[in-house]
Amino acid sequence: MCQQDYKYQNPIFSMRKLIAANWKLFYTREQLTKIAHLRPTEQLEVVVAPPFPYIIEARRILPDFISVCAQNVCPYETGVFTGEVTSKMIKSINCDTVIIGHSERRTYFQETDVDIKNKLISCLNQNLRVILCVGEALNMRQLRFDALLEQLNVLEDGQSVIIAYEPVWCIGTGIIPRNDEIREIVVFIKDRCMKMGVECRVLYGGSVTSRNVGLLNEIEELDGYLIGGAATTDDLITIIEMCDRDKDGEYYR
Ligand code: PGA
Repeated sequence: MCQQDYKYQNPIFSMRKLIAANWKLFYTREQLTKIAHLRPTEQLEVVVAPPFPYIIEARRILPDFISVCAQNVCPYETGVFTGEVTSKMIKSINCDTVIIGHSERRTYFQETDVDIKNKLISCLNQNLRVILCVGEALNMRQLRFDALLEQLNVLEDGQSVIIAYEPVWCIGTGIIPRNDEIREIVVFIKDRCMKMGVECRVLYGGSVTSRNVGLLNEIEELDGYLIGGAATTDDLITIIEMCDRDKDGEYYR
């Protein structure tokens, strides 16, 4: 089977753009209902990540074509870990995707690459789709390729993942790298993954809004976005609509 065929058959490698909404601690029924009214599209995949207690409600209310995603997972599959939620539990509530390695988890909860590797393996064992976040802090800007290489080292031959490149200095700051800078990193990540035997799609995350997504859509190598702040407002619907049009502004559907 050629690489292209494989990509069409494996849901991780759908050729559609993926828009993932990371709601962090923000969640309202109103926002969920608005998303629930979206119409399916051949060109776009939508993923919504509510806080844990709202996953079941989100799965019940959202149409099937929208994936529901957890924002975190326990690195261990069982044991005495108060307050944790395992990949098996996440799978059992029809949640199909998990974000791991978000910079807020790395920074505020001191998550290490060892934790992230364990989370990754645990999720893949449960056939959960993983969005692995990587990205350099501001003080590593000059050494960003080294920082990324280290973070990508959690991956192993044969794995399939979605990688979100999120420069830490762009998250929630309104700052965004130039298109050529993002393109360079996306190509670097894809190349590195190919060498490691890892199948990947690459998203960009960090201050994505309806004001800059039109420009970002010009990066052909990019497979979609992980969106924080803008995903908690009606801007998410605008972004989805903007990504669902071709270059001439026509809707794909
Ligand atoms: P932001 O967050 O869109 O608010 O910058 C992105 C993220 O944290 O994933």
